[in-house]
Amino acid sequence: MTWTLTRRTHSAEETRSLAAALAGVARQGDVVVLAGPLGAGKTTFAQGFARGLGVVGPVTSPTFTLVRQYPCRLGELLHADVYRLEHLAEVEDLGLAELVERGVALVEWGDVAQPALSPVAWTVTLAITGDEEREVRVQSDGDDRREAVEAALAAAGAVAG
Ligand SMILES: Nc1ncnc2c1ncn2[C@@H]1O[C@H](COP(=O)(O)OP(=O)(O)O)[C@@H](O)[C@H]1O
Ligand SMILES: [Mg+2]
Repeated sequence: MTWTLTRRTHSAEETRSLAAALAGVARQGDVVVLAGPLGAGKTTFAQGFARGLGVVGPVTSPTFTLVRQYPCRLGELLHADVYRLEHLAEVEDLGLAELVERGVALVEWGDVAQPALSPVAWTVTLAITGDEEREVRVQSDGDDRREAVEAALAAAGAVAG
């Protein structure tokens, strides 16, 4: 079943908390796509998501390395940045599909193209709606965790968008 949950955050830390809450519902093998323009908060979201998975240490933008990996409670957290289409091929060459079986993948994707990754558990789209305000849309196609995600976001105090 297709579903969308829209929330609004008012600081980077709020976005991290929301992401950490979502991570609490993640399962091994999930691919999560992060969409939105530069500066929307994709990397910020990834930091919170990593925190929610128990990653210790800093999570920085994988812009120049394409993929970073962190040990986490679901195995490995992969964090990739596909800001150019050629990068998708490179990420696939790295064996994303096999790697994700051993953990969870977060793929940052600018608004330039639609992800050709599948299956994607959740697509999180961030939109800049103010200096420190972001609209965070969590979308899923055929995922059975809508209620769990909704409850986790509510527990984190996420504000309806
Ligand atoms: N509500 C918010 N959510 C996320 N980031 C925010 C928010 N308000 C301000 N920011 C700032 O916006 C910037 C987002 O940058 P980043 O996460 O690197 O974006 P992207 O990876 O999408 O290019 C950071 O400097 C962050 O502190
Ligand atoms: Mg980024």
